[in-house]
Amino acid sequence: MKFFIDTANLAQIKEVNDLGILDGVTTNPTLMAKEGIKGEAAIMNHYKTIAEMVKGDVSAEVISTDFDGMIAEGKKFAAIRPNIVVKVPMIKEGVRALKWFSDNGIRTNCTLVFSAGQAILAAKAGANYVSPFIGRIDDANWDGVQLIEQIANIYAIQGYETEILAASIRSPLHIVKCAEAGADVCTCPLEPILGLLKHPLTDIGLAKFLADAKSEK
Ligand code: G3P
Repeated sequence: MKFFIDTANLAQIKEVNDLGILDGVTTNPTLMAKEGIKGEAAIMNHYKTIAEMVKGDVSAEVISTDFDGMIAEGKKFAAIRPNIVVKVPMIKEGVRALKWFSDNGIRTNCTLVFSAGQAILAAKAGANYVSPFIGRIDDANWDGVQLIEQIANIYAIQGYETEILAASIRSPLHIVKCAEAGADVCTCPLEPILGLLKHPLTDIGLAKFLADAKSEK
């Protein structure tokens, strides 16, 4: 399973990239606004900076909701760098745009996916990634991880090549469960990624090794 970081914060991207385990970055308009990035020029420049920092794919989300607007935005994003992937919402015009991008060699990530039916549509339209939002599904009292499992099963049966990018990750356990459920990619904020490191027995064991190493001298 690939690891993407879900942020537009450059320091956080660098922190995980420096560990050598980062495969890509996802952003969305909320994450860009959180970093105070506003206006087309600043947004384009920020995507360029991120895409130059990392080797893997960087998702840049369109804010148009009509076909022509999505295509115009997506073309501009795709021209920034070859590792930019155009993020398109799962709406009717979005499906049309996904197909157009697919037919024209522009890679895409279909976002705001909350059901297996939507994931089938995204795959049929040729999306490279599909992003089910598992945390938000859990918030609504359904089971987000179960959706990942269902989509993975359908894609395997049908031979769809779209990669399942589990999004809206809230905890280290979500990451483990997504790996078990067959996600191809997990995009996470910094905290759940670093949370994977934690185990009290590791801390206790290391403290003992270090203490014993000292006493041997
Ligand atoms: O990648 C989608 C993600 O940013 C949404 O996360 O926590 O706002 O549901 P969240």
